[in-house]
Amino acid sequence: MTLENAAEAADLIHSKTELRPRIAIVLGSGLGAFADELEDAVSIPYERIPHFVRSTVEGHAGRLVIGTCGGVPVAVQQGRFHFYEGYSMEQVMFPMRVFGRMGVEAVILTNAAGSLKAGMRPGDLMLIADHINMMGVNPLRGPNDERLGPRFPDMTQVYDRELQRLIDEEANGIAKERVEAGKDKTFKDFLHRGVYCALSGPTYETPAEIRLYRTLGADAVGMSTVPEAIAARHQGTRVAGISCITNFAAGMTDDIIHHDEVMEVGARVSEVFKELLRRVIKRI
Ligand code: HPA
Repeated sequence: MTLENAAEAADLIHSKTELRPRIAIVLGSGLGAFADELEDAVSIPYERIPHFVRSTVEGHAGRLVIGTCGGVPVAVQQGRFHFYEGYSMEQVMFPMRVFGRMGVEAVILTNAAGSLKAGMRPGDLMLIADHINMMGVNPLRGPNDERLGPRFPDMTQVYDRELQRLIDEEANGIAKERVEAGKDKTFKDFLHRGVYCALSGPTYETPAEIRLYRTLGADAVGMSTVPEAIAARHQGTRVAGISCITNFAAGMTDDIIHHDEVMEVGARVSEVFKELLRRVIKRI
C-alpha cells in the first residue's frame, strides 16, 4: 500500500461527491447507525474503492458514507477492517492514509470494548486518553514513506487534548440534560476516561489475561482502533477515540462474552452516542 494507492482511492471518492470533509469517523461494532442519519449522503461500498478490502464482520456494513451532519461535511466508515480478519496492518490502516490524502484533519475512532473497571458498566462510554498496543505488531513496521511522516513517530499524545476536552464537555452537557428531562435518574457521568488496550483477537480474553492487562494499566480492552490511531498520528491527523463499553471483561462477572451482546449494547447506546457525535462534529 503506497501513497499512490491512497491517492487513487481518494480520487475515486472525490469523484462521487462535491463534499470535501475535514472530519472522518470510524464506527465500531453496533455503532453503525450514525451513518444512516447523514444528509446529502453518498454511500460507497468498500469493494468499489481501489485497494480497500471488505469488512467480513457481522455488524460492520462495509461502506464509506460521505455526507453532512448539521451542515458539516464528514466521511464516515460504516465498518472497519480488523487485524483478526487476516488483513495485514497496511490494509487495516489504509483508510487513514486515504483520509489523509482527502484532506481530512481529524478522525474520531469509535469501538466496542470490554471494561476492566467495576465502575465502568455496559452502556457507558469511555474517552480514550491513551492506549497500550498488545497486538504483537506495530502497524508502521516496514519501509517508511517520509512524505507521510517520520520513521520514529512520537506517541506521547496520540489522542488530541483539545478534542478530548470538547468531547468531555459535550458528554457532560448531554448527561445533565438527560437528568433534567427525567431520562436518567441520577447525574451519571457516563463518559469515563481511560486507557484502551488493543489485542489481536479474535478470541475474547481469559480471566487471567484480563488480570494481567489490568496490572499493566488497561481500563478497557478491544480488537481495533490502535492501528488506525497510530497511522493517523504518524501522518499528523488529529485523533480522538471513544469506546462504547459493551460488557465487563472476562472473569469480572460469571457471564460469558458473546458478540451478540456486544452488538446489542452498541445498538442500545446508539441514541446517546449519535447525539454526542452530532454535537462534537459541530465544534471541531
Ligand atoms: N474483549 C475484547 N474486545 C471486545 C470486548 C472484550 O471484552 N468487548 C467488545 N470488544
